Amino acid sequence: MTTSEENALLIQTGPGTPCGELHRRYWQPVALSQELPPGGAPLTVRLLSEDLVLFRADGGRPALLGLHCAHRGADLSYGRIEDGGLRCIYHGWLYDVNGRCLEQPGEPSSSTFHERIRHRAYPCQEVGGIIYTYMGPGEPTRLPPFEFVRIAPENRDNMKSFADCNYLQGNEGNLDPVHLSFLHQLTIDEPESGRAYNAQCRQPAIETEDTEFGVRIYAVRSVSGERNYVRVTNFILPNFSAVTGNTDGYTVNWHVPIDDEHHWRYFIRFSRTQPLGQGNWWRGSSKSLTPDLHLKKNRANRYGQDRSSFDQAFAGLGPDFLLHDTCAVEGPGPIEDRAEEHLAYTDRGIVASRAALLQAIRDVQEGRDPKGVARGPSAQPDLVVRSDALLPASVDWRHYWDDESLVPELTSAGHG
Ligand code: FES
Ligand SMILES: [Fe+2]
Repeated sequence: MTTSEENALLIQTGPGTPCGELHRRYWQPVALSQELPPGGAPLTVRLLSEDLVLFRADGGRPALLGLHCAHRGADLSYGRIEDGGLRCIYHGWLYDVNGRCLEQPGEPSSSTFHERIRHRAYPCQEVGGIIYTYMGPGEPTRLPPFEFVRIAPENRDNMKSFADCNYLQGNEGNLDPVHLSFLHQLTIDEPESGRAYNAQCRQPAIETEDTEFGVRIYAVRSVSGERNYVRVTNFILPNFSAVTGNTDGYTVNWHVPIDDEHHWRYFIRFSRTQPLGQGNWWRGSSKSLTPDLHLKKNRANRYGQDRSSFDQAFAGLGPDFLLHDTCAVEGPGPIEDRAEEHLAYTDRGIVASRAALLQAIRDVQEGRDPKGVARGPSAQPDLVVRSDALLPASVDWRHYWDDESLVPELTSAGHG
């Protein structure tokens, strides 16, 4: 059971909060590259309860500064991108990408006051079609060389959507393999698919194990008593997960706090072998998302639920998994009161992931680097994302991945 105190610890990510300090030890997505076209306007972003402005400095390099000018607080997203930085339109102060104030053109020319201004600035790197930032203290940690940041552009597909609730609700939704048997079920005839196995067996056995990046959650479903379908959900601290998707790579769902009551869900998928048609999700999103990446169907219109369609879709919400998930995770309201929950056997993955998150928060509080954080040239473990497996019931699935090189890919048409 999660207490009110633990809940507060888990959900608050603003500056100075313990979980906010944890999130600031890891590089976090700040925008998709597509959101910030070269030559375009600066983008206002709110991230971990901080108001910031993202822009491409001369040469196209992304930069992230505090939104409000250090002089008298004007909004720098209206600023002019010129002379190696961003110039406030109120009195012309010019900031470079590191937050140094290069010019204060209205001050006496003998003034050196600008040299003593340090505006808030966070380092950025743009890899794999996403702009990441590090908002922690000191020398930035390293962004691990995840496959999805190294993959060729044509083999990946990124998207994001807004969620009107705390990041942890969204993340725990993706860590929960049991809802696949309910929330996402559709009456589609695909007898040999992850979706069909999820429908056939609604009472999976759940096991968890700690990993170097977080927690792995196994959901084992019996298929006709002859085989086992093992769904593997990989929780990567502090706020994302990776699962087998509909490619031979994997799918990431990264839940990035805007503030304590809102977050962005970034989706990243890739194939190790084939072009995906870059921008598939981006182009296809216009049907379900507004131009600013909010779901058109949302709480205000009851997510478009059609209760006469329960025979086709368990949730009566049509086939869109994103819509299903958003309805479910926004259901508790902006911040779920976890002290009111009744966690059951099938929530073992949720329990293990919360324990890992609380441990990571303690690690930072006690001056240690949490799991998955690497600095300098130190060796960093590879993120091993285990894919789903379909095995004869006579095989002990726990040893299936012992030799990763022998493991065949199973594309499950699954989803987290
Ligand atoms: S408020 Fe920005 S220069 Fe004065
Ligand atoms: Fe889901």
